[in-house]
Amino acid sequence: MSIGEFPGTRMRRLRRAPWSRAMVAETALSPADLIWPVFVRDGRDEAEPIATMPGVFRHTVDRLPALMREAEALGIPAIALFPNTPGDKRSEDGGEALNPDNLVCRALKAMRDTGANVGLLTDVALDPYTSHGHDGLVDEAGYVVNDRTVDALVGQALNQARAGADIVAPSDMMDGRVAAIRRALEAESLHGVQIMAYSAKYASGFYGPFRDAVGAGGYLKGDKKSYQMDPANGREALREVALDIAEGADSVMVKPGLPYLDIVRRVAERFDVPVFAYCVSGEYAMVEAAAAAGMLERERVVLELLTGFRRAGASGVLTYHAPLAARLLGA
Ligand code: PBG
Repeated sequence: MSIGEFPGTRMRRLRRAPWSRAMVAETALSPADLIWPVFVRDGRDEAEPIATMPGVFRHTVDRLPALMREAEALGIPAIALFPNTPGDKRSEDGGEALNPDNLVCRALKAMRDTGANVGLLTDVALDPYTSHGHDGLVDEAGYVVNDRTVDALVGQALNQARAGADIVAPSDMMDGRVAAIRRALEAESLHGVQIMAYSAKYASGFYGPFRDAVGAGGYLKGDKKSYQMDPANGREALREVALDIAEGADSVMVKPGLPYLDIVRRVAERFDVPVFAYCVSGEYAMVEAAAAAGMLERERVVLELLTGFRRAGASGVLTYHAPLAARLLGA
């Protein structure tokens, strides 16, 4: 009998019992791998359902301290904040992004005041504030201009950092913005503020429900293909990541998640910075729609999905399923 072949080698031996499967598991998933994106709105004591994201709500600021404590109790290390800015505060230049009393800044203060051991991440991009729905400033032809946008993003990032953001996360895909933000943070002695760069962010159809959640969908003129990446490209993502690291990013992100696991893997293999994946709104909606229709088991597929990100090499995952997953993981 040959030991290297069947029947000497039987792959199923290791899989036979739960203790053995646990013993040989190559990938671990824990609540510490999850970042929880939360939507914020104006008003008082309200959690407004989002039609395209069943189970996700827009919370008023007074409800956020409770979510902060929930994250802490569940072992979720960070919350990402996304504002739904009322129409009358949106403008051509997205100036509300610079208002030290805007929705995100008020949310940051209220959450910071809880003293909870949870990091606060804010998105740097103008789309929650512009009347045209783009992440930057547009010229007469409707083109999103780079360098003037970077100046505005620096102002936005400083505004968030001053209000208590622990991590600023530029999601706009302008060139040179990470270096400009890093320089400005250092100049203001905000040495401890991290930059998590949305380095490889693709022009994706999977952001649809998010745009509904932040109320940007109805405003968006055209698409974001002149600044977000082409889904056909992988090597370009590695260039983007290399640039953002050179410019001072502490960690990088790949977004969306599932269709881009190959990119997560390549970035994790090539670079020694933490790499995060954003399992975006459309991915959440797919799972929820299929589960609601009885087509698959929500809890099982959520853990399988998140384990897949870890197996691909992600340090962590931004996911709307974060509280559910943390509960399932027995926090
Ligand atoms: C804004 C931003 C988007 C997302 C995060 N930040 C949307 C977009 O670029 O249009 C998407 C997140 C999601 O779909 O869950 N710059």
